[in-house]
Amino acid sequence: MSEINKKDGPIAVTGASGYIGSRIVEDLVGQGYEVHACVRDASNVKKVDHLVKLGKDAHNCDVQLFEGDLFKKGSYDDAFSGCISVIHAGATVGFNRETPQEVYDGCFTENEHVVESVKKSGSVKRFVFTSSFAAVAHPRPEGYVFSEKDWCGDNVEAYKGAWTEENISKNRDIAYAMAKANTEKMIYKMAEDDGNFEAISINPLHVIGPLMTENHNQFFSWQYFIWQLLQGNNFGSLEGKQVRSDRMLWNMVDVRDVAKAHRIAAESSNAKNGSRFILSATDHSGELFTWELQAKLKDLFPEIKTIGGERMEDNKPIKPTYDSPRSYCQKAIQELGLLTYSIDETLRETGESYKKLGLL
Ligand SMILES: NC(=O)c1ccc[n+]([C@@H]2O[C@H](COP(=O)([O-])OP(=O)(O)OC[C@H]3O[C@@H](n4cnc5c(N)ncnc54)[C@H](OP(=O)(O)O)[C@@H]3O)[C@@H](O)[C@H]2O)c1
Repeated sequence: MSEINKKDGPIAVTGASGYIGSRIVEDLVGQGYEVHACVRDASNVKKVDHLVKLGKDAHNCDVQLFEGDLFKKGSYDDAFSGCISVIHAGATVGFNRETPQEVYDGCFTENEHVVESVKKSGSVKRFVFTSSFAAVAHPRPEGYVFSEKDWCGDNVEAYKGAWTEENISKNRDIAYAMAKANTEKMIYKMAEDDGNFEAISINPLHVIGPLMTENHNQFFSWQYFIWQLLQGNNFGSLEGKQVRSDRMLWNMVDVRDVAKAHRIAAESSNAKNGSRFILSATDHSGELFTWELQAKLKDLFPEIKTIGGERMEDNKPIKPTYDSPRSYCQKAIQELGLLTYSIDETLRETGESYKKLGLL
């Protein structure tokens, strides 16, 4: 067992400027860890000011910024030196910016570089990778409840082989899912071969929750679509154009719970090399069809005149929504001791953060 303790050294976080990465840094600082926050450009105040402030406000620890690029070999050698753990939340899997093949290949290249730096450090005992629920989910009948035992490449025969490596170059969703799943398998093997550290994955579903900076309002992210609903736009509609379906089963998790899960997975004696933890709704309360989410937002924000949802007729959705994905973060609760935010707290505080940033 190689669980970690804050007395033994700092923790490095890649993608520290990002939506999830920033909350990981915040959580670590709150627990008194020294943090090596890895960003691409330490002079970009819009992306790092909130991290610098976290460091200044901390009483008993420090946040040090390190520059690094996931596509450059050796870029994280300095940042990881002397660290007891690395939390790898950085990724270039941006929406619609890369071809499916680039998304797939990029995930391996990035992780190979990061793990090489982990190995060189000689001090890292736990490597926690931000994978995705996409690495878990695959076509299943409605209502199926996914667990950590599921992999996106499962059940290929029953569903005309959609989720196979041959289709990676043709479909961004398949490329993303297979990249995360196969990267997980690769890092567990690298850790096992190395023997000095363990690799663990966190598999988040629809991550929402309060933003720390305007930069966290990433185009096409789940939080971005909540912002759109709060501005009266139907789900999936951007500037009057329907860019994705308005019907979805939202399975929501708070970004602060996702962040905390990374740390407690690194600390836990219940986790080991190859452990994976789904971060999704705590229970049914966090699973809402778009029209139900709209009703909930109306209750939470009575002062907002129009809240978007999905197309309705006679107060009913015009079509039923496919009942998937169903999944709960029970393993993280039971094995890691995660305590989660309620869906009302998460949605309320997401909206409040948009107001505070002057975006609503
Ligand atoms: N958000 C979700 O709902 C969700 C769900 C499942 C899984 N995930 C996974 O969670 C991770 C973090 O996602 P997020 O929502 O926090 O995204 P995000 O806000 O876009 O953060 C991504 C981070 O990666 C950094 N990055 C991108 N390219 C880089 C490069 N070449 N070198 C170094 N750093 C680079 C970004 O730095 P810059 O600030 O410099 O761009 C940013 O800090 C990703 O792996 C994503 O796949 C997210």
